[in-house]
Amino acid sequence: MLCVTLILIAIASCGASEIRNAVGAEDFHIKAVSIESLKPNDDSRIVGGSPTSIQNFPYTVQILNNERFSCGGSILTTRHVLSAAHCYFRNGTFLGPEPFSIRAGATYLNEAGSVHSVSTIVIHHGYNRTITDNDVALLVLATVLRFTATIQRATIPFQGETLTDNSTVVAVGWGRTISGGEVSNVLNAVSVRTVNRGVCRQRYIEYASRLNSSATVTDNMICAGLLDIGGADTCQGDSGGPLIYNGTVVGITSWGAGCAQPLYPGVYAKVSRYTTWINDTVTTYNGSPRSQAGIIAVLMPFIFVLFRV
Ligand SMILES: *[C@@H]1O[C@H](CO)[C@@H](O)[C@H](O)[C@H]1NC(C)=O
Ligand SMILES: *[C@@H]1O[C@H](CO)[C@@H](O)[C@H](O)[C@H]1NC(C)=O
Ligand SMILES: *[C@@H]1O[C@H](CO)[C@@H](O)[C@H](O)[C@H]1NC(C)=O
Ligand SMILES: *[C@@H]1O[C@H](CO)[C@@H](O)[C@H](O)[C@H]1NC(C)=O
Ligand SMILES: *[C@@H]1O[C@H](CO)[C@@H](O)[C@H](O)[C@H]1NC(C)=O
Ligand SMILES: *[C@@H]1O[C@H](CO)[C@@H](O)[C@H](O)[C@H]1NC(C)=O
Repeated sequence: MLCVTLILIAIASCGASEIRNAVGAEDFHIKAVSIESLKPNDDSRIVGGSPTSIQNFPYTVQILNNERFSCGGSILTTRHVLSAAHCYFRNGTFLGPEPFSIRAGATYLNEAGSVHSVSTIVIHHGYNRTITDNDVALLVLATVLRFTATIQRATIPFQGETLTDNSTVVAVGWGRTISGGEVSNVLNAVSVRTVNRGVCRQRYIEYASRLNSSATVTDNMICAGLLDIGGADTCQGDSGGPLIYNGTVVGITSWGAGCAQPLYPGVYAKVSRYTTWINDTVTTYNGSPRSQAGIIAVLMPFIFVLFRV
């Protein structure tokens, strides 16, 4: 009991000192807004997907696994990137941060922008691999991002907010432009609409029973696509990247049945279910070596006491 109390105090006091440190060069504050204050974006020229520039979506980053493009992400602070948990597992094994880096400020794959290695990956505690529920990961960067015209932090919605059905949203990424094809060399954007969750859930129940598999749409997910029309969607390689409602990142690209199929919308982790978790995690994992040294320093006397007993 004493042990637990001491550890909590140690971490809490380190956190407090970090908030003060953060007032300097680094800024660990996330940016959140009310969805209701935003109006729908009626710009639908990108239906079907078309090349865009990073200037239009400057919070979007490439996630690299051993220097090869693997997923997308969204910048939250100078040191934190939001992405999808499933990007960091292979065959059920967590890959750890070592092979991963990010490229920010780049329109094209493997060129320009700024590359930063990842020091820590925090997987959401509720991540369920079987049904891809709570498909959320927070990456802590080893070096600090410098915000420019092409590198900016994303805005996310306040905890608990929900978009109305049939809202126009935009997904961006370097993923495949046809199912099973190659990833794209240039950043693409596609305009879709949010689909009622009950309708989406039913579609995937039918899909799953037809294929004898499981595909569960939970309350932690947003569905978006052109229902019964198809032709516009995210695809493999877009995972982890943003789904955007008038400049606010409301979803994290997660899963779907194929790509751009009329019957089956794309499925995204619903960011507003995680705003509090994101805020808390950003505060806890602020990437500063000073805070890690602080935890060890505070725990040291206690470890010593234990040893003597
Ligand atoms: C994040 O947490 C800080 C306190 O640590 C609080 O002041 C701020 O309002 C929170 N932001 C959001 C969007 O929850
Ligand atoms: C997007 O939201 C902003 C408020 O943040 C609003 O001023 C703007 O008109 C909205 N854009 C569109 C296209 O509705
Ligand atoms: C993952 O598992 C499959 C079959 O279980 C195996 O064929 C494949 O080589 C494994 N991949 C890795 C990277 O371990
Ligand atoms: C994942 O979700 C499935 C379906 O709801 C459930 O049966 C399973 O126990 C969950 N797994 C974990 C590790 O929570
Ligand atoms: C959704 O919105 C589009 C245009 O924004 C409209 O054409 C369509 O009828 C709407 N669908 C539903 C089900 O409301
Ligand atoms: C689906 O699963 C059931 C029971 O597990 C099995 O009897 C059936 O043959 C399977 N159908 C297909 C198409 O795989």
